[in-house]
Amino acid sequence: MDNDILKVLYSEEEIQNACKRLGEEVKDDYRGKVPVVISVLKGAIFFTTDVVRNIDMKMEMDFIDVSSYHGTTQSSGEVQLVNDISTDVSGRDVLIMEDIVETGRTLKFLIDNLKERGANSIKVCTLLDKPAGRVVEAKSDFIGFEVPNEFVVGYGLDYAEKYRNLPYIGVLKPEVYSHN
Ligand code: IMP
Ligand code: MG
Repeated sequence: MDNDILKVLYSEEEIQNACKRLGEEVKDDYRGKVPVVISVLKGAIFFTTDVVRNIDMKMEMDFIDVSSYHGTTQSSGEVQLVNDISTDVSGRDVLIMEDIVETGRTLKFLIDNLKERGANSIKVCTLLDKPAGRVVEAKSDFIGFEVPNEFVVGYGLDYAEKYRNLPYIGVLKPEVYSHN
């Protein structure tokens, strides 16, 4: 897989340091509360487990699967709920864990959806923020890194479902796309 990577943006060590910092920030923010941490599958799975292990407080965890990309590097614009959470979030303090916020559509869909179900508060922790790609307004409360307007893979992030298991985050060589 390393041969398909043009450059590394964030090393394993940089990612782990960001997870520690975010864990501290989240812990400070939710003092005295028992949040429901909702990880957005599949991309945020690595990030979620690394951050929550840095948060020494009671919480619940759940998972939601939404899709909008359908195996390309361009957002289709339409967000679909693929697999729902099983937690009743009514009256709960919810923390959404995302891998990356680009157009903001996925996040807006999730926030609107959880609001409708009566969550008491909804905050967002994202590993990566790509503000150049924003189409709808969607703000994150906790951000790991602001990324340039490039398609990135690794540490949960995929291209056509591959490269999620890379331990670092990088940019793919252009020829990897043209072969598809
Ligand atoms: P948004 O709805 O455009 O904000 O995109 C959110 C979702 O798109 C993320 O959860 C990712 O799955 C995917 N995505 C956006 N940018 C990238 C990228 O650079 N690499 C891999 N996936 C991406
Ligand atoms: Mg995703």
